[in-house]
Amino acid sequence: MPIDFQTHFPVMLPQVLETLCPQDGGIYVDATFGNGGYTEAILNTANCKVIALDRDPNVLPRVKELQAIYGDRLEFRAGCFGDFTELVDEQIDGAVFDIGVSSMQLDQGERGFSFSKNAPLDMRMSQSGQTAADIINNLPESELADLIYQYGEERKSRQIAAKIIATRKLKKIETTKELAEIIYSIIRRSPNSIDPATRTFQALRIAVNDELGELQKGLSGATTRLKSQGRLVVVDFHSLEDRIVKTFFKNNVGKNRHVSRYAVKPQEQDNAIFKECSKAIFPSEEEVRKNSRSRSAKLRYAVKQ
Ligand SMILES: C[S@@+](CC[C@H](N)C(=O)[O-])C[C@H]1O[C@@H](n2cnc3c(N)ncnc32)[C@H](O)[C@@H]1O
Repeated sequence: MPIDFQTHFPVMLPQVLETLCPQDGGIYVDATFGNGGYTEAILNTANCKVIALDRDPNVLPRVKELQAIYGDRLEFRAGCFGDFTELVDEQIDGAVFDIGVSSMQLDQGERGFSFSKNAPLDMRMSQSGQTAADIINNLPESELADLIYQYGEERKSRQIAAKIIATRKLKKIETTKELAEIIYSIIRRSPNSIDPATRTFQALRIAVNDELGELQKGLSGATTRLKSQGRLVVVDFHSLEDRIVKTFFKNNVGKNRHVSRYAVKPQEQDNAIFKECSKAIFPSEEEVRKNSRSRSAKLRYAVKQ
């Protein structure tokens, strides 16, 4: 089925542009090209260059579409942003990360990201490496329970893991529907709360794509490549990601301590990387009304010394 790139809204786009602040002549990295929404807006905001990264080969037609308009102002490099310093050796004016899975990936039911469509349990953004089915069918019970608990924040993780083990003794678990049914046999669906499969599917997706490890490495790599005054902007969607971003910024921002002019001790050397970092910024009510996917988004940014 052809992908409709036009029906997807880039999350918190006005805030991304305001905090990334693209300038003429600048070089910006869009670390999560996706549907190209941020890239296109950055290229329209300033006469700058965008280096776009994505691990999903399915984004290529959209890259080509934008290159036909913006020419060599848009360069695409396929790969994981965890390998930021290998993919980008330029000094850059800013980088933006829009973490997680794209609505396009969710809509491609056959890729197994969503429990609302029956498909093989795949969930690989890069379309290579271990699948969700590999994890579900091979991980020991206690590791599976820990994974579902830690990455899905699922309180019934032990029961779900036990049922998975019992089921896979009889037959390999291969599809999203089979896994969802196991979860529903433990947690009943209710019209007023989120689907009980949400948390276990999130956990698997995070594990299959090493999303938290990627984020940690991506933030460090991008920071290394930022010029002085360069800007790092991150949009994240759940508490596990947000904790990593918040901690990374907090650990690397200057204390901006006030030193009294009467102090005898010389001022301590400040090894901070960032001169400022923001608190969480949220989408507008209007955006959440128009695009429910944005409801859990948070944006944080930092500016290099
Ligand atoms: C939420 S979408 C980005 C949407 C984009 N901001 C837009 O406006 O269209 C996230 C994209 O990042 C990609 N992605 C996720 N993790 C990645 C990683 N570690 N390295 C490279 N790309 C990644 C996904 O394949 C997906 O296409």
